Amino acid sequence: MQQNSAMKTSAKIVLSISILLFLSLPSPAFSAHPKCNSHDKKVLLEIKAALNNPYHLASWDPNVDCCSWYAMECDPNTGRVNALTIFSGNISGQIPPAVGDLPYLETLVFRKLTNLTGQIPSAITKLTRLKMLRLSWTNLSGPVPSFLSQLKTLTYLDLSFNDLTGSIPPSLSQLPNLQAIHLDRNKLTGSIPESFGHWAGTTPDIYLSHNNLTGPVPASFGNLNFSFQIDLSRNKLEGDASFLFGRSKTVLTIDLSRNLFEFDLSKVEFPVNLTNLDLNHNKIFGSLPQGLTQLDLQFLNVSYNRLCGPIPQGGALQRFDQYSYFHNRCLCGAPLPPCK
Ligand SMILES: *[C@@H]1O[C@H](CO)[C@@H](O)[C@H](O)[C@H]1NC(C)=O
Ligand SMILES: *[C@@H]1O[C@H](CO)[C@@H](O)[C@H](O)[C@H]1NC(C)=O
Ligand SMILES: *[C@@H]1O[C@H](CO)[C@@H](O)[C@H](O)[C@H]1NC(C)=O
Ligand SMILES: *[C@@H]1O[C@H](CO)[C@@H](O)[C@H](O)[C@H]1NC(C)=O
Ligand SMILES: *[C@@H]1O[C@H](CO)[C@@H](O)[C@H](O)[C@H]1NC(C)=O
Ligand SMILES: *[C@@H]1O[C@H](CO)[C@@H](O)[C@H](O)[C@H]1NC(C)=O
Ligand SMILES: *[C@@H]1O[C@H](CO)[C@@H](O)[C@H](O)[C@H]1NC(C)=O
Repeated sequence: MQQNSAMKTSAKIVLSISILLFLSLPSPAFSAHPKCNSHDKKVLLEIKAALNNPYHLASWDPNVDCCSWYAMECDPNTGRVNALTIFSGNISGQIPPAVGDLPYLETLVFRKLTNLTGQIPSAITKLTRLKMLRLSWTNLSGPVPSFLSQLKTLTYLDLSFNDLTGSIPPSLSQLPNLQAIHLDRNKLTGSIPESFGHWAGTTPDIYLSHNNLTGPVPASFGNLNFSFQIDLSRNKLEGDASFLFGRSKTVLTIDLSRNLFEFDLSKVEFPVNLTNLDLNHNKIFGSLPQGLTQLDLQFLNVSYNRLCGPIPQGGALQRFDQYSYFHNRCLCGAPLPPCK
């Protein structure tokens, strides 16, 4: 009797342990990584082959569930590949057009790949769910393609630090969901498209620095309200840019440095939350407005312009040293030598 009851107890324990084991074993329904979609897996292996099977993608083993591979992510519910992030590897060759055959892709990044060459492939336009496109710090050349305007879901476009040439396609302003556009550090020429003053949806922050852009900033920019930043520095832009300012604008950082801008700063009213203002190396004239003392400035550089008159005393203005103000026509007063 006693023996029987002991046997029953141990049988129960064994049963409980097996149930526990069964529950904790990986099964298709319960595993943390879903089984990767077979179409997507095939495409990824094509991409790997097109890039000459680089060591960077060694984990892309056909015998392993592709959702556990390096440099990509799957949707946990569907097993569809939604992110491909190839970053800082020894990768040579061009962006394989097969990237366009991952229809659930929301993020596509090729970044810090010195030996990535060729042009941006039009196959990218097949990615109708793409939110982030980041092709940056590579040796990609050719134009900024106008077909990128077909990527209506895009919220972030970064093509900075490449060898892109030609002019900026006006059609990019048709992207209705863009929050930021980075075309900085290329070899772009021509002028800023007039269309960039009229965005289909939200106004993105615009980064165009370190190019060879010429001509004036379109007057339509006066109506734009950038969320954080506009950076037009290190180009050959000219003329008036005072309309970028204005009390009720939300922008925090304005960088117009190293251009040929020529306007009177005296009557400019600054965005109330402006914290960084770089105007160095232009042909800006007039005087520094008193309104500058009301800003919580973290960075200011108005050096190498044609400004004149006393530096207003107060606010953050005397926290900057002479190198924020030097090389002007006749600016004076602390931190520069006293006015005569
Ligand atoms: C780029 O390619 C050259 C020539 O094959 C090679 O020597 C170099 O190490 C590669 N660099 C990187 C960062 O991939
Ligand atoms: C990159 O790969 C090439 C060819 O496989 C090789 O010759 C080169 O040494 C590698 N460079 C680096 C930085 O690993
Ligand atoms: C482009 O390639 C050249 C060598 O061919 C290299 O010196 C340069 O750093 C590369 N540019 C970028 C942005 O990686
Ligand atoms: C801009 O053009 C000048 C000559 O016109 C050239 O020397 C310079 O490298 C170019 N800069 C860029 C960033 O393309
Ligand atoms: C900019 O946006 C702020 C906050 O949404 C708004 O109060 C302001 O009126 C806008 N200014 C302009 C010039 O559109
Ligand atoms: C300035 O910043 C304050 C505090 O973050 C915010 O409430 C206000 O809307 C901002 N004003 C503008 C014009 O961006
Ligand atoms: C302002 O710009 C000038 C010219 O490029 C530079 O010499 C100076 O160091 C800059 N000052 C600050 C505070 O960045």
